[in-house]
Amino acid sequence: MIDKTMESKPAVNRLTLQVNGTDYEVEAPPSLRLLQVIRDHLGLTGTKRSCEIGRCGACMVLADGEPVNACLTMAYQVQGKAITTIEGLSAGEGEELHPVQRAFLEEGGFQCGYCTPGMVLSTKALLDRNPEPTEEEIEEALSGNLCRCTGYGGIKRAVRRAIELGR
Ligand code: FES
Ligand code: FES
Repeated sequence: MIDKTMESKPAVNRLTLQVNGTDYEVEAPPSLRLLQVIRDHLGLTGTKRSCEIGRCGACMVLADGEPVNACLTMAYQVQGKAITTIEGLSAGEGEELHPVQRAFLEEGGFQCGYCTPGMVLSTKALLDRNPEPTEEEIEEALSGNLCRCTGYGGIKRAVRRAIELGR
């Protein structure tokens, strides 16, 4: 006989997550991933869903300035951290594009654009900690971001342009 009192319900916690400078209260079972919060709860679809196993970087966001794959990050792991998505990149600078976004636009660092939010955020994280990276450092920083379209030439030009814009 099943003891009904022993049946477990999935635990649901209330988390407060800060995304693009705004605090959101989220009902979060332990299995809730950051990618679900960002896209499905908050409707911020600039963060892309693709492989969902940490291989492609399409879901890259910044957590306290560090790039993380939102598909592998549990919501509870980022409580108290400042999350930045592509929609929040130019926040505080009016409607203008962030210099890294401008560089990707000027240099044609995209084709279909699916990988671009992740590429831009990884580039921002790189240049924030290392404003004058070498080619190897650029390649290393973008090694977790896959692009199926461009062949990476335009993307690397865009990163070099972003370096110039930051000088
Ligand atoms: S969707 Fe997260 S790494 Fe591919
Ligand atoms: S521009 Fe299409 S995947 Fe990179």
